[in-house]
Amino acid sequence: MIPDEKVREVADRLSIVEVVSDYVSLRRAGSNFLGLCPFHGEKTPSFTVNPAKEIFHCFGCGAGGNAFSFIMKIEGISFPEAVKQLARKAGIEIEERQLTPSEKKEQHEFAQFQHINELTATYYRSILLNSNEGESARNYLAERSVESEISEAYRLGFAPDRRDGLVKYLKNNGAELESAQKLGIIRRSDSGWYDLFRNRMIFPIRDSRSQVIAFAGRVLDSSLPKYINSPESPLYHKSSVLFGLDMALPSIRTGKSIIIVEGYFDHLALYRAGVHNVVATCGTALTGVHAGLIKRQAERVYTLFDSDGAGKKATIRSMELFLEQRISAYVVSLPTGEDPDSFLAKHSAEDFKILRDKAKPAFEYFVRSLLAETPPDSVDSKVRVIDEIVPRFRKIADSVERDLYEKEICRLLGITIHAFRKRIGGGKFSNSEINVNKKEDFKPADSIQDTLMSLLLNYPEARAEILQNGLETIFSDDYLEMAQLLFSNLSESDNGQISSHLVEMIEKPELKMLFSRIMVSDACFADIEWRAVFNQCTRSHEKKKLSSIKDIAARLAILDSNSAEYEQLLKQADKLRTRKSNL
Ligand code: UTP
Ligand code: MN
Repeated sequence: MIPDEKVREVADRLSIVEVVSDYVSLRRAGSNFLGLCPFHGEKTPSFTVNPAKEIFHCFGCGAGGNAFSFIMKIEGISFPEAVKQLARKAGIEIEERQLTPSEKKEQHEFAQFQHINELTATYYRSILLNSNEGESARNYLAERSVESEISEAYRLGFAPDRRDGLVKYLKNNGAELESAQKLGIIRRSDSGWYDLFRNRMIFPIRDSRSQVIAFAGRVLDSSLPKYINSPESPLYHKSSVLFGLDMALPSIRTGKSIIIVEGYFDHLALYRAGVHNVVATCGTALTGVHAGLIKRQAERVYTLFDSDGAGKKATIRSMELFLEQRISAYVVSLPTGEDPDSFLAKHSAEDFKILRDKAKPAFEYFVRSLLAETPPDSVDSKVRVIDEIVPRFRKIADSVERDLYEKEICRLLGITIHAFRKRIGGGKFSNSEINVNKKEDFKPADSIQDTLMSLLLNYPEARAEILQNGLETIFSDDYLEMAQLLFSNLSESDNGQISSHLVEMIEKPELKMLFSRIMVSDACFADIEWRAVFNQCTRSHEKKKLSSIKDIAARLAILDSNSAEYEQLLKQADKLRTRKSNL
């Protein structure tokens, strides 16, 4: 285990705002910070960070916790890993701890996966470079002008046309075939193990630390499918991997911009031309996870997709993701019929840079291509265009940008701003940045218990009073469980202050949600006369509970009067009745 003091040291060194800001852009709202929640899609910010309490809570999806919970959730890693990651950020050293047996097993398997991928890349590469079988691939690469340094930079390889070449190689090198099977690169049939890739040139797919995590194989001729890719595996999740990111990172860091292409060969063509800030998706549409990854690395993104219909669709879909995550996105358009590879075969890198500098803001590109497709020359076509625009327009998070586009759209369509806003929804839209707390998905919050819980959290003096009254009389359901948990975890060292670390003790998701929600929304509880609030709350709470006498009566009516439950309910009803008359 990582010693507790170390965990605290890391937590003390970093503010939650600093941690979250690496992933979410936050703006100040009173004593809190607000942003778009990275854990669910939303247009209006309901993701709240309370720096004083070191806690976050999303009123949209209920996610909440402290800086460690945030990192665990967004990176998909365990608590110790999250602590280590933040320790690195804070410049604190953490000594290795003892692993549990199951963690040891998992670690062994991951090491085995990495070992196998490394062996596999080496095997394919040596076939390409040294064997007779690799000749066709060497010719193919020569034809496509892929020189040896480029081939080396990508660690290109060739899978020979053999049933089990890789299987044998892995076996001879002592690899566990079952693990290789989990990576999808070999399979098992009745007649034994066999390779996934045959007679294909191989692009190893690497993560940002240059570890090989998967492979893509391209045919050498025009047969289909052109590519096959490793399946999803414990190492490879294509919706979160950007091909070539490791090669691109140094140049992304200096230029703060990133170019996204669709194909492995598009990537190669640009890289070869000296344009290094390029990444490619791996045979999948760009996802929100990709967009988040890009946002962390760059301030500006260029999409460079094919100019055909599918490419246009991909461009517009990616624009929506970028609008949602407030990433400034530009579209580079190549001459019709060209892809980066074919363009750079005919033109210089300078010519490409000219095109890149002429890139249009993604939303403008979208509106223009829409108007080119459907000229707004009749009422009917105008309505059609507006209906295409409106849902995307709603995704523009930046209000200045939105104003500018609104004007431009109205000018291009020859309509009034009033008419446009009406289409968007009764002119309400301009207010849509206002935080909407969507709570429909949750158990309705109990405002009295909320207040009492807030007192418990914020007023150490109120705690004795609460205990005296009995937790069970004051709280019920999740609130009761929460209060019990808090009291059993309150320690002297915390100086009576409830800290966000408590969230680490909470396992039940409902309780986590409750805790973070109340912790972030305590602003209105500063400097109040807690005793007055307390008395008022306990009274209305009691009254509310008593209304349940009716419920008890209804239940009694259907129960067997000899049953234990009947007797118990009867007693409860009696007790409530006496209490009510005393209030
Ligand atoms: P392209 O057909 O444009 O491939 O598909 P490319 O990489 O540019 O290759 P060349 O230049 O034609 O040789 C773009 C991307 O779509 C995925 C791959 O990721 C490819 O790089 N794809 C394409 C597949 O996954 N499977 C396929 O069969 C085809
Ligand atoms: Mn292509």
